[in-house]
Amino acid sequence: MTVEMFCPRWYYHSTLSEEYQDQIKRLFESKVYDDSIYTESPWDCNCLTTFQSKTNMELAWNDWLECLRLSIDDALDKLKPTVDVEVIPQDAWANKYNKGHFQEYHTHEVPYCNLSMVYMYDIPDNDDVGFRFWYDDHSKYKKSGLAHIFDLPCSPVIIPKVKQGDIMIFPSHYAHYVSPNKNDKPRITFSGNLFVVPTKEESQRDPTPTRP
Ligand SMILES: [Fe+2]
Repeated sequence: MTVEMFCPRWYYHSTLSEEYQDQIKRLFESKVYDDSIYTESPWDCNCLTTFQSKTNMELAWNDWLECLRLSIDDALDKLKPTVDVEVIPQDAWANKYNKGHFQEYHTHEVPYCNLSMVYMYDIPDNDDVGFRFWYDDHSKYKKSGLAHIFDLPCSPVIIPKVKQGDIMIFPSHYAHYVSPNKNDKPRITFSGNLFVVPTKEESQRDPTPTRP
């Protein structure tokens, strides 16, 4: 007899090749260390961001996506699509965390977005990247006492083991936050949203099952 688990939570994780990491460095290094390209965060936190700013349009997001293409394709492949799918890229932006900067609990639940990704562009001294998932339902296990009396495979905070040059892709509704940068050097990450949908051909297919 055993305890069976169901509905696991997940994220995709890979390390970009040295070539792609270098290519991304070359695309962005002349701009992303300059605080003037950033605006104060529109969120309830103190990190700097290019999110929906004028300067964001000047950053090489299409080239960045090309560098991520193999990882995105690999992620979709590993998720075992049941229909032919296409990826529609949405917003992409850079965040800069100077010492003490953090980002509050949030999700990327917006229309036309179901997967989100984060790329670890520059993590000083390969320190903590700061990224944490937050599992809301843990509070129910805590309230009921189950979390206290059993060794359950769930916790409120999940710290992915990622480093500079890594990418994570995860469902956009997953809550997450970024802990304060304790390093004197800034931490820079890139975020992006994707909308993965059935291809046009797939959605035009007659969904009515045919009888044998
Ligand atoms: Fe986020």
